[in-house]
Amino acid sequence: MKHCITLDDFSADEVNALVHLAIDMKNNPESYRDCFRGKVLLMLFQKTSTRTRISFEVGFGRFGGQVVVMDWGKSNFSISPIEYEARYVSSQTDILMARLKHHSDVINLARHSRAPVINGCDDKFHPCQALADLVTIYENAGTFQGQTLVYVGIHNNVANSLACGLSQVGGKLVLVTPETNQAADDPALMERLMATGLVERTTDLKAAVSKAQFVYTDTWIDMEFFNDESYQDEKKRRVAQMIPYQLNEENLSGSDAFIMHDMPIHPGFEISEEMVYHPRSIIFQQADNRLYAQQALMKFLLENTGS
Ligand code: CP
Repeated sequence: MKHCITLDDFSADEVNALVHLAIDMKNNPESYRDCFRGKVLLMLFQKTSTRTRISFEVGFGRFGGQVVVMDWGKSNFSISPIEYEARYVSSQTDILMARLKHHSDVINLARHSRAPVINGCDDKFHPCQALADLVTIYENAGTFQGQTLVYVGIHNNVANSLACGLSQVGGKLVLVTPETNQAADDPALMERLMATGLVERTTDLKAAVSKAQFVYTDTWIDMEFFNDESYQDEKKRRVAQMIPYQLNEENLSGSDAFIMHDMPIHPGFEISEEMVYHPRSIIFQQADNRLYAQQALMKFLLENTGS
């Protein structure tokens, strides 16, 4: 069974094909009308979401599919082993999208599912976001070759998925990440990706930005901890450490790079407010492209369940 737990579940050719399919689904929606008719998508949420919820639900429904949305805490996933619940829900539906807290639970869900499982963002990977980001980069640059994206912030699930995705399609990722989320830390993965020559780390923000076609940031605090009272001291520590790395006029002076952020945005923290609506900001294009990237991913997996 083919799943999407990380973009490494796909070959380079498949990732390229997904990008081009997403762009075609965006530009020629009439060609895909009813392509999800008769199919059921289950969305399982253990964490909050705006874009992932909208893009999957609207994207699947727009082409005739039926969507069931399930809150983990209000379902019996919360009181029974994943394997039994996974076996049942996947016998009643055609494809699953799960936004769970722990990567190990997404793997467990996929292991026991009889339908393809899409990782809708866990603590280690966010492949759906990275796929939409590749679509956005391709739309703006027309190629991945020779394109450098500088990711500035905490090394997290998005950074891992950008590293997987960009290295597959031949783009370059430079990480300016003074800190790594524990759950996203995978030295073996980074060693393998850095060996491609397409993923690098540096502490020199100015030098990195000066060579970038795209500059990207993300939240310094993962969504499940953002309003957690017990995380507030860590939040303060991170803000003090990371504020020199904010995407703002000063740090981007002299750069003509496109500005990216996967949202939700925390203005005044990882990005200054003026950068969000800057003429070079493609942040809302990125968010818009979630829908087409997710449509392409679901179409591909529904047609390749056995591979
Ligand atoms: N970027 C992203 O995944 O957005 P949501 O958390 O709102 O789904």
